[in-house]
Amino acid sequence: MSIINAAITAVGGYLPEDKLTNADLEKLVDTNDEWITTRVGIKERRVLKDPTKGAAYLGVQAVQDLLSRSGIDPKTIDGLILTTNTGDHTFPTTASIVAHDTGCVNAFTFDLVSACPGFIYALETGANYIRSGRYKRVLVVAAEKMTAFVDYTDRATCPLFGDGAGCVLLEPTEEACGVMDASFHTDGIGRNNLILRAGGSVNPASHETVEARQHYIYQEGAAVFKHAVKGMSSSCRAIMERNGLADADVAWVVPHQANLRIIDAVAREMKVPMERVMVNIEYRGNTSSATIPLCLWEFEKKLHKGDNLILTSFGAGFTWGAVYVKWAYEPKH
Ligand code: UT7
Repeated sequence: MSIINAAITAVGGYLPEDKLTNADLEKLVDTNDEWITTRVGIKERRVLKDPTKGAAYLGVQAVQDLLSRSGIDPKTIDGLILTTNTGDHTFPTTASIVAHDTGCVNAFTFDLVSACPGFIYALETGANYIRSGRYKRVLVVAAEKMTAFVDYTDRATCPLFGDGAGCVLLEPTEEACGVMDASFHTDGIGRNNLILRAGGSVNPASHETVEARQHYIYQEGAAVFKHAVKGMSSSCRAIMERNGLADADVAWVVPHQANLRIIDAVAREMKVPMERVMVNIEYRGNTSSATIPLCLWEFEKKLHKGDNLILTSFGAGFTWGAVYVKWAYEPKH
């Protein structure tokens, strides 16, 4: 019996039009372009301003981009897995809204939550559906409206985050390409270092939680930074070793875009020059689980069949990991 691999056969993405620049932030909090640029590497981020639109709206645009560019009938999509930390509601799922609004009426749907690494978790999950042989087309979508949870009075977090969505289509192939390997890790030591402190079943919303500004992202940046470099570097190194990949075999590293200094440190640890590292943080900021598919979308034309990609991410929990993807197609024109 031949082995079924799960290949990425199309990508899609969406960024809202409104931009929030460092100059805009200088008017809101005690910060400056020089600090944000040198400490984080961000110049501007995209913002979905309309409060009536959330993560699902972003996800819908990204899926429509993929479907229209690939000419795929949404009725042929068997499954849609959506990862988000900023879903429209606690329930219903954001995946069910995106499937409905894009015409993916025959797809099973669910939300998958695993902080910023959510997309790489969802990619491996989607790949397993394909590998089972029972599903032919699975969409993996990451959609985040981070700015809905950003405190624009907190200079430590407000420069970091932006909004956006990216997605990929997984289909079966008998060729030796696609999602080749994955490695994930969790350590609850980070539980309080990066957290949305209220609005869940612990600390449900109340006047007090709103007054204490507990519905916004809280982050102890330095602690997260240290663990991020260590976690991303070690999982990349491990997945390369067990797949026999030397530094020179890696065509692209696709890292989570949280801080240019973290990306730089991981690339140095992997001995991969920055020319082979996907970076778009300067104009996108940190879109949480959407950073990696947005990179694939923006760099799609530079990717070639057979390229070895190492995707890696780190986030709240802590949770982190790496996925090895062998790219399945030449640039489409
Ligand atoms: O996506 C999920 C995973 N998240 C991450 O991976 C993020 C990891 N952490 C980081 O990227 C960095 O820790 C931050 C960008 C969040 C912060 O950078 P840092 O170099 O760790 O700065 P810090 O928090 O240690 O603060 C250094 C100084 C402080 O001043 P003092 O105490 O040294 O006088 C801060 O008050 O920088 C100050 N500071 C600012 N100054 C100007 C903090 N935020 C700002 C700001 N503008 N926006």
